[in-house]
Order: sequence, then C-alpha cells, then structure tokens
Amino acid sequence: MLRFFPFGEHFEPGMAGRSLSEGEPLVDVDEAHYAPEIALKRALLAQAQRDYFLAPAELAPAQWEVLELVSSDLVRRYPEWFSLERDGERCCFHNRLLSEETRFVLGDASSLPLEPLDWIGRQVQEDLVLVRADARGTLVGGQLCFPNSWDLPERAGSSYLAIHQRTPGSTMVGVHAGGRLLQALKPQRTFCRIGWNFKLSNQLDLSTKHLPAYLAHAAARSPELDAAGVARELFIRIERQTFTRLTRSQHVLFGIHTYLSALEAEAQDPERARRILQVVTEAPDDVKRYKAILPLEAAFRAYLEGKLQRPPSQHDGSAVTTSASGYQTGPNSGPRPSVASSPASANSEPMPPSTSACSSGLDGAKRAVR
Ligand code: HEM
Repeated sequence: MLRFFPFGEHFEPGMAGRSLSEGEPLVDVDEAHYAPEIALKRALLAQAQRDYFLAPAELAPAQWEVLELVSSDLVRRYPEWFSLERDGERCCFHNRLLSEETRFVLGDASSLPLEPLDWIGRQVQEDLVLVRADARGTLVGGQLCFPNSWDLPERAGSSYLAIHQRTPGSTMVGVHAGGRLLQALKPQRTFCRIGWNFKLSNQLDLSTKHLPAYLAHAAARSPELDAAGVARELFIRIERQTFTRLTRSQHVLFGIHTYLSALEAEAQDPERARRILQVVTEAPDDVKRYKAILPLEAAFRAYLEGKLQRPPSQHDGSAVTTSASGYQTGPNSGPRPSVASSPASANSEPMPPSTSACSSGLDGAKRAVR
C-alpha cells in the first residue's frame, strides 16, 4: 500500500502541504523498491541522458550543494545504509543498499565519474529539479527520470507560472500560493506537499516522449473497463514533493518521489476506499478532466461503492491508521516499477514504519517561510 496516503476527508484545491519536521527525511528511502528503481533510473540515463539530465554551467556550484545536502540527509536518516567519511574535502561515500563505495573531493568535478547532481541523483529514488531564485521562479535544470507527463528539455527556462499554465483553473489558488511560498522560502526549512493522480499504467517514466503511447492505451482501455477492470488496471500515482532553498546559490531544490499502488490494493482498506471515493466525488470537473478520471468515473465509483457495501469481515486489507489530514504512513507496498505500460498487480511487502507525511492547508505553507 502507499507509504503516504494523500486523500483526506475532502477534496483540497489548495497546495495541501506543510514544513517537514526535524524528524522527517528530505529524501525518503523506500527500501522495498529502492534497488529496482535506482536500476531503472540508471538505465534511462544510460540510454538517453539528455532527456533526463540537464545542468547548464550556471548550476555548477548548486550541484555540489545538492550533493552535500542529499548525502548528509541520507547519512543522518539511514546510517545503516549510507555513510560518509570525510578528511577535509576528501570524501568516501558508502551505499550499502547497492554495495557501492565512491571517493571524491568536494568541489572538484574531475574527482567524480559523473556531474555531482547526476551522481547523487543516482543514489536516491527522488527526482531532483532546480529552480532559480529569480522573480519568475525559472526552472533551470536537474535530473528528472520519473515525471508525470512533462520533461526537462521542454520546460527548462520556463517560469513557475508558465509551467503551471495547463493546470486546472480550480487549483490555481494553490498554484499561486505555492509561487509566493517558493519566493519566500528560507534555507533550513523544507516545505512538503503530496500530489495525486490516477493512471492506467504503472510506468514510472511517463515523460513527454511516452505520452502518445500512454494516451492511446488509456483511450482504448477506458471505455472497456468495468468495475473489476478498473480495480485491476488503475493505479494511484502520488508524488511526495519537497522544496528546499539552498543556502549558497539560493536556488530551490524541488524533490519529487513518485509512488504507485494499484487501486485494488488501496481499496482493501475500507477507510482508504471511502476517502478516495469522497475526494474524487468532490473534485471539480476540470480536475477530473485534467487527471483523466471522467472516462472511468462510472466504473471507478461502482467499484469503490461496491467495496464499501461489503460487510467488514469481507475486507481483507491490512490495518492502517488514517489521520484526519489524510496524509499518514502505512505499511508499504506497491508495484515494481515498470518501463512497459501494461498494468501489473501490486506486491505487498511489509515495511518498517517511516515518516508521517504531510498535513494539509495553507497554514503549513506559512510555517515554511517563517
Ligand atoms: C508549492 C509549490 C507548488 C504547488 C502548490 C504546485 C501545484 C501544482 C498543481 C495543483 C498541479 C496540478 C496537478 C495536481 O493537482 O497535483 C501542478 C502540476 C505541475 N507542477 Fe506544480 N506546484 C508547485 C511547485 C512546482 C514546481 C517548483 C515545479 C517545477 C519547477 C512544478 C511543476 C509542475 C508541473 C510540470 C506540473 C504538470 C503541469 C502540466 O500538466 O502541464 N510545480 N502543480
């Protein structure tokens, strides 16, 4: 099941996020999916680096800041898996999940096999994107392997508002609030929000070049799916997004960790099923259109309503504690990442407890800039 569950009691048109607390990691290591997702990331970068990594010369200092920030977060949060020995600027980084050791000299690009942001990005499941500290909030570059319907080459150089021009009108209040928040964000404070979507695929890399194939698949499958079909083939796709102001360059680091889980797996828990149904029922039509829910809505509702009508003894899901905010931690599971668009059923693998994720509302946003 999803590690972070974004559906609360009601549809939230705002930015739905808050500051991370001291105890919460910037980078979430989802151990059950770590090795295959890192392998997929590295394979994509090996096949088509220019589609997934973009770092103009102006990002050279910021790349080192990201490496330092992310590696120190990994070491602090997950000492059993990551460690960093330092002797002045000389570093030795150990990644025990992959049995790898890397030696480098901080600030010396020739000491690493890859550019610093490219190297650290291959140690974490997060995508790492950089936004310049200018008045437009310009997207400059980063490493982006698992985007939902966009890519870096197409959006680099665009302002924050231009990037969001296709987002539904009813969410624009949240987008504008997010823009103000990013302008005011202070270093040492990370803001976090969780976005959700539904896909007829568990393909992590849904960058622009894969869109025609995905859209054709969804257009062909949607009219054919009944309640049982939606349960089997529809995936909830969430993004745990973090925003952190870098101390020296002042760029904003935008981290995106994507998680997938089959609707069928989430609906095993009646509380999760109820909240998904409630939020989707309340969502305005422009949001449903944007998230391509409309063609599936009847089957989707029939499935969840049917699930909720079954007596509790027939629910076979694992228990999770669901907070009123909607964002909380549960046992982790989810499908293995896939490069193919064919649906797959979800695995269920127990996980140690992780962070409690985000609560909603603009109040949280305000706390991030104080
Ligand atoms: C607190 C800050 C932000 C807020 C509140 C926000 C909000 C949103 C919302 C509401 C959507 C529509 C999808 C959804 O419902 O989740 C969206 C989509 C998107 N956001 Fe953001 N966003 C933020 C920051 C950023 C940043 C910094 C970037 C990149 C530099 C970004 C890139 C995108 C992209 C590429 C999309 C998809 C747009 C499309 O479909 O054309 N967002 N965002």
